[in-house]
Amino acid sequence: MSEIKILQGPELSSLGLLLEKYRRGQNKFGDMIIGPFWVNLIVEKITGGDEKALALTKDGQVEAFVIHKTGSNSVLASMVYVDKTERREALLSELVFRMRKIYSAKSIVFGDPVPDMDIEAQKRIFLSAGFRVLERYKMEFSAPYEVKEVDRPPGFTFKKYSKTLDRKVARLDQRAYRDHPDEPILEVLTDTGSNPPSLRIVRSGPAFFERSLSSFALSGSELAGGIYCTHMGKELWISNLVVDPHFRGQGLGKYLLFKVLKGMKPGGYRRCMLMVSADNHSALNMYKKFRFKLKRNRFNFVYTTGQGVKNH
Ligand SMILES: CC(C)(COP(=O)(O)OP(=O)(O)OC[C@H]1O[C@@H](n2cnc3c(N)ncnc32)[C@H](O)[C@@H]1OP(=O)(O)O)[C@@H](O)C(=O)NCCC(=O)NCCS
Repeated sequence: MSEIKILQGPELSSLGLLLEKYRRGQNKFGDMIIGPFWVNLIVEKITGGDEKALALTKDGQVEAFVIHKTGSNSVLASMVYVDKTERREALLSELVFRMRKIYSAKSIVFGDPVPDMDIEAQKRIFLSAGFRVLERYKMEFSAPYEVKEVDRPPGFTFKKYSKTLDRKVARLDQRAYRDHPDEPILEVLTDTGSNPPSLRIVRSGPAFFERSLSSFALSGSELAGGIYCTHMGKELWISNLVVDPHFRGQGLGKYLLFKVLKGMKPGGYRRCMLMVSADNHSALNMYKKFRFKLKRNRFNFVYTTGQGVKNH
């Protein structure tokens, strides 16, 4: 029988080595929901911070764990590790059920499925534990970089990121996703004290944030939209493209995207990746017009008890 443990603070550092091993062995973390920088943030934070891990151990060895944060109504599970054994399905299932039991009155979001485990098996496990499945697409734009000219929409000024924009970016993200299918995730992110992932990335420092290609559009002093990018070597990631609902349909999203794609070649980037929800039709339309190709799909798993978290 496995034992269950909640690891916190310095205790988490024991998991760092496992994650590193896993990351090197699989090299699959780049495919995960939030992008390649997420794992680095986690590994970076694993020696402290406010994440916890729910770990299954056997004979003192960690066999599986899920890193998560808790808020007043929600739990955000940001990473699952299941050791490579024939018991993977059983271990994942146990982790998911234990999470539900421990945090019974909460809304739980699993941001990433296990990267190298059969997705149908994972879906079955999460569905049987009462979770909903949200589908996300990973999309890629790559050489020969054919980017059609896009006219600059009138009435906006464009700025590079600076720290003074942080609060406005957070407010913009919250306003823009209010009516969006990703909302349960955003709501959980807010409740667990995380900023939207994009903002965490902006704050993650020069190693991952692609400052020169990220830009923000202002209408007067109001932030109307923004595109923020990160990078991993020669791979560029759009971590968020967002336009305030009030300024949509004026060509701003298109222009922000165009500026990034046009900057790829001079920046030495070979490809540009992003994740988008399968039911985000306006965004999907736009990416397809720019010749983004669908690479693969990914899933978020969302569980809600209906208590404490509204409108799910
Ligand atoms: C996606 C988003 C950035 C588009 O911004 P926008 O400024 O309204 O977009 P644009 O006016 O530049 O339109 C760009 C293209 O998007 C598509 N589009 C825009 N609004 C649309 C709608 N209501 N329905 C379908 N397609 C739409 C069209 O293909 C359009 O191209 P066209 O003008 O050549 O027809 C904006 O809707 C948004 O912020 N959504 C919430 C955040 C989000 O989902 N971001 C993407 C996450 S990956």
